[in-house]
Amino acid sequence: MRSNYCGELNESFVDQEVVLCGWVHRRRDHGGVIFLDVRDREGISQVVYDPDTVESFAAAEGVRNEFVIKVTGIVRMRPDGTFNKDMATGKIEVLGKQLEVLNAANTPPIQLDEHAEVGEEIRLRYRYIDLRRPEMADRLRFRSKVTNTVRNFLDERGFLDIETPLLTKATPEGARDYLVPSRTHPNRFFALPQSPQLFKQILMAAGMDRYYQIAKCFRDEDLRADRQPEFTQIDVETSFMNEEQIMSIMEEMISGIFKTHLNVDLGEFPQMTHAEAMRRFGSDKPDLRIDLELVDIAELMKGVDFKVFNGPANDADSRVVALKVPNGASLSRKVIDSYTEFVGIYGAKGLAWIKVNDISAGIEGLQSPILKFMSAEVIASLMDMLKAETGDIIFFGADKIKVVNEAIGALRIKVAEDLGQIKDGWAPLWVIDFPMFETTSDGGLTSLHHPFTAPSCDVQQLAADPINALSRAYDMVLNGTELGGGSIRIHNSEMQQSVFKVLGISEEEAEEKFGFLLKALSYGCPPHGGIAFGLDRLIMLMTGATSIRDVIAFPKTQSAACPLTDAPGEVSSKQLRELNIRLREQPQPQQ
Ligand code: AMO
Ligand code: AMP
Repeated sequence: MRSNYCGELNESFVDQEVVLCGWVHRRRDHGGVIFLDVRDREGISQVVYDPDTVESFAAAEGVRNEFVIKVTGIVRMRPDGTFNKDMATGKIEVLGKQLEVLNAANTPPIQLDEHAEVGEEIRLRYRYIDLRRPEMADRLRFRSKVTNTVRNFLDERGFLDIETPLLTKATPEGARDYLVPSRTHPNRFFALPQSPQLFKQILMAAGMDRYYQIAKCFRDEDLRADRQPEFTQIDVETSFMNEEQIMSIMEEMISGIFKTHLNVDLGEFPQMTHAEAMRRFGSDKPDLRIDLELVDIAELMKGVDFKVFNGPANDADSRVVALKVPNGASLSRKVIDSYTEFVGIYGAKGLAWIKVNDISAGIEGLQSPILKFMSAEVIASLMDMLKAETGDIIFFGADKIKVVNEAIGALRIKVAEDLGQIKDGWAPLWVIDFPMFETTSDGGLTSLHHPFTAPSCDVQQLAADPINALSRAYDMVLNGTELGGGSIRIHNSEMQQSVFKVLGISEEEAEEKFGFLLKALSYGCPPHGGIAFGLDRLIMLMTGATSIRDVIAFPKTQSAACPLTDAPGEVSSKQLRELNIRLREQPQPQQ
């Protein structure tokens, strides 16, 4: 129907006849002349109808916002002085000759001009209108271009795009499963995959050597701005490659995407051990655009007469840290109180602080509720150790290691945001040498990644000291977001069984849940490893969106529902009967 997209017209089209198809973005009546901004996926063009073309002028008078129209007209320069710099097509306009209304539209519930503040529920309910907004269309277009680059990159390097099933058995990635009841096998359930992890490993056992998939994953977990119940991974697995080789090829892929689509050079990615990341930043995904660091001060605090500090300082499972914030001494009491509340979310029982009003004045130059608990020598050593300067504020965290890391790690980011201390640009890194396991609240052990991650040690060492065992896992972090994670896998069934044992998974349970994997490992499985990137997160970061919901065409709400389709929905009693399911509370009878 169309000759050109609205957004592609420019001076080179002047005097040409064009046919545009699109939506009426805006209609203005300027005393006898009607201006229509006509919009399609690629942009907006201004179309002018004057009363000389009687029929089309009348048609233009009748159209309203979001009508779908077909316009035939001649491109011409706009008169001098009426150029619109903010519009890509702002130097030209189309003199309308014909206008055909292809479809009328009700008054839209969402105004498409960018300043309209619309609630998310409405945006998702009328997603087809929301997606007409140029910024939303731009993001989806960008996403499509990036996945295309990914496919080309991997295809050129011999990776095969192989689909894995969605109706499958549970794959443990730490979240709850979405279950699908089986009609043909009463009382049995499929699980939607939390990731293609087990299948991609089995593809390696099958000799596929290099696999990738842009894969849908399903996780029933608490949602946040960077988490959806249904999301997409760039999922990769390779055989006969070690971690350095896998990291290098993946670094090349991500760097290539940034270069191609943002013209950004990410440079070489630094590597940091998990232990160092936790020690310096309290986080396994540190945002390196922020200079602030946690400094351990337990040694200094062991002997002070202040229980809040000396208790944790003398306890191996605790940490005492200082976070020095330059230019923070101007923070008001109210703001500091709000930070105390903020760290409380992570379980911190308080937030001690010292303001350095004048470092040259010794203790007199300091201001703090905790000075009275410490000797002049300790305070002087502390200031020395932290290289404190006039204008700093120093925050303190003293508690169990986990609480301090989470609380002061989060405070580090919050304060940096509030004080404008986050540098511009991109800060990628690899975090490596993760522990194999972490302790759960009931004292058991759980995998830090997933139970198929290979340890850096052998079976005997693993059994002897599991809590100190390191894994061959690696995470790619960008600006404080975990973009991807992967590992070298266990390819030998004896090692896999020892890991299950450490995790408290009995032989019977292992057989029942993962017998198929153990078997695959025992029939000649090559050494292998891989990684998965969160595609939604990657696009969110690259487009500057604040939530992955803004880069997904049809995302779910915070409560994991879809307002557009009203899913999840009720089902009929007939369907339930076929599935051999009886609900605890019967729904209203349905026709
Ligand atoms: P992991 O669980 O770390 O690893 O997931 C890989 C990446 O997927 C993204 N991601 C999510 N994105 C949006 N919403 C979610 N709910 C969500 N959960 C995870 C993150 C994360 O880094 N099978 C392993 C990978 C492997 O070992 O190869 C896995 O799934 O960006
Ligand atoms: P208190 O003696 O409990 O009033 O605490 C004195 C100061 O230490 C206050 O500023 C508290 O906010 C702070 N504080 C209390 N508990 C902790 C903690 N676990 N870590 C850091 N500061 C704390």
